[in-house]
Amino acid sequence: MIRKLLFISFILFLLSACDQQKKVADTTDYIKVGDSIAAISFDHLRTALQASMSTDGPAAAIAFCRQQAMPLTSKYNTDSITVMRVAEKFRNPSNALKNPDSTAWSQYKTAIANGDSIFSKTVVTDSAIHYYKPILLQPLCSNCHGVAGKDIPASLVTVIDSLYPGDMAKDFLVGELRGMWHIRFDK
Ligand code: HEC
Repeated sequence: MIRKLLFISFILFLLSACDQQKKVADTTDYIKVGDSIAAISFDHLRTALQASMSTDGPAAAIAFCRQQAMPLTSKYNTDSITVMRVAEKFRNPSNALKNPDSTAWSQYKTAIANGDSIFSKTVVTDSAIHYYKPILLQPLCSNCHGVAGKDIPASLVTVIDSLYPGDMAKDFLVGELRGMWHIRFDK
C-alpha cells in the first residue's frame, strides 16, 4: 500500500516536472498513474464492500454503497486529478457517461463484442488527459448487479429500487462491461 502511494507520488512528481519544462508528458505515463490510482481505489471499494456485506448483509451494504461509494471513489482526488466511475446503465445518475466518455465506451463495447483484448487508454482533449479502464462484472458483483429475481433476491431488488428509482444497473452477466474508471488529469 505504502509502496503504491510512493509510486503514485513519484509519477506525479515526474509529470509535474515535465509540465514545468513545458514538455507534453507521454500518455503512457498517464496510463501508469491511472492504472495505479484505479487499482488502489478499487481495492478500497471492494474491501469496504465485502466488510459491509459480511457484517451487515447485502441490504445494509447497498445503503453503505449509497453513502460511501462516491467518497471512496474520489479519495485520491487532487486539485488537478478527478477519479470517477462512469457507466451507460448507471445506478447513481451522477455516474452517467459524459463527454468524452462515450467514445471510449463504444470502443470497449466493440472490442468486447469482437473478442479483442481491452486495455486502459487515454483520450486527450484541449483541457485534460482522460484515462479510462474498463470495469467488468465479477461473480461478487452479481449480488447487486446481476439478474433481478435470480442473482439479486426479490427483497433486495425492492431495497435497490427504493434507494435508486430508475436504477439501470441490474441484469448484468459475469464478464460484461459494467462501467469504466475515468480519471481526469487537468492540463
Ligand atoms: C452490496 C451491493 C453491491 C455490490 C456487491 C456491488 N455493487 Fe456496484 N453499486 C452498488 C450501488 C448501491 C451503487 C451506486 C453507488 C452510488 O450511489 O454512488 C453501485 C455503483 C457501481 C458503479 C458506478 C456506476 C453506477 O452504476 O452508478 C459501478 C461501476 C459498479 N457499481 C460496479 C460494481 C462492481 C464491478 C462490483 C463487483 C466488484 C460491484 N459493483 C458490486 C451496489 C453494489
